[in-house]
Amino acid sequence: MLFLHFAAVVIGFTSAAANAFPLGASPQLTELASLLSAYKNQKITGCDLSGAVMPETNGTKNLSPPDAGTSLARVVLGRGVQNYTCADSLSTTIPAANGAVATLYDASCLAACNPTLLHTLPDIMVNLPKDTIAESLSIVTRMTRQPIMVGHHYFAPNNTIPVFDFRVQRSDKYLLAGQRDEGVPAVTTASKGEMGVGYGAVDWLRIKAIPDMSVDYKLAYRILTAGGKPPATCQGMAKEFSVEYATEYWIYA
Ligand SMILES: *[C@@H]1O[C@H](CO)[C@@H](O)[C@H](O)[C@H]1NC(C)=O
Ligand SMILES: *[C@@H]1O[C@H](CO)[C@@H](O)[C@H](O)[C@H]1NC(C)=O
Ligand SMILES: *[C@@H]1O[C@H](CO)[C@@H](O)[C@H](O)[C@H]1NC(C)=O
Repeated sequence: MLFLHFAAVVIGFTSAAANAFPLGASPQLTELASLLSAYKNQKITGCDLSGAVMPETNGTKNLSPPDAGTSLARVVLGRGVQNYTCADSLSTTIPAANGAVATLYDASCLAACNPTLLHTLPDIMVNLPKDTIAESLSIVTRMTRQPIMVGHHYFAPNNTIPVFDFRVQRSDKYLLAGQRDEGVPAVTTASKGEMGVGYGAVDWLRIKAIPDMSVDYKLAYRILTAGGKPPATCQGMAKEFSVEYATEYWIYA
């Protein structure tokens, strides 16, 4: 079961890869290698996004479309945690948002060529350990020499401002620090979280860049969310806790 998910993620990212799997032996890796070989020599990152179409609606309400003059620059999958604090552990206290941390993976080729598969991945990824995803995709990167991990999402300073930081290589300069502009509840079919027993999917968002704090990027959308919501109250919760989530981020320049 886990392997199927693992393969789906890897295949999802890879319309590509190599014949020989350098790690050898394990039957699962052999199976994976044969699956991957079907996709040999294809581009798996940095695809042209001019034909990609972002879902803007949760079914009943649209997020506002990108501003005129902007263009789609990146589509990434994010996998990480949303953090919360509880002042006490009473049922009358509501958890407060306290930032998030996530790793961002290039999903441009899926956005361009297989959006249906892309939109299933947040649900699959929220059910996979973060380390499994990071390790498996770093193997694919080594096999294909194409960078899949392209950035980090975090909050700064003081957990108030969401940042999308694409300065992974020394030469990269792209950065978006933003503020929430609009939000709508996630679609009703969204994954509630890990193993379907989480507290629900965080809202879909439109995030506007703060120009002074951003380089080139103007807008970010968080859509097709899976997990990330806190419990309704602080009853029995620690002072600080994290909730697993995965999502798509669509970034406009
Ligand atoms: C969020 O919580 C995780 C632990 O789950 C921690 O490693 C991380 O530093 C926290 N991030 C922020 C921005 O508070
Ligand atoms: C962060 O919070 C601390 C303590 O509340 C405060 O002293 C500091 O000025 C804040 N920093 C920023 C950049 O807002
Ligand atoms: C979409 O968002 C609207 C407005 O925030 C909300 O009333 C509605 O319930 C949401 N739709 C779904 C399917 O959750």
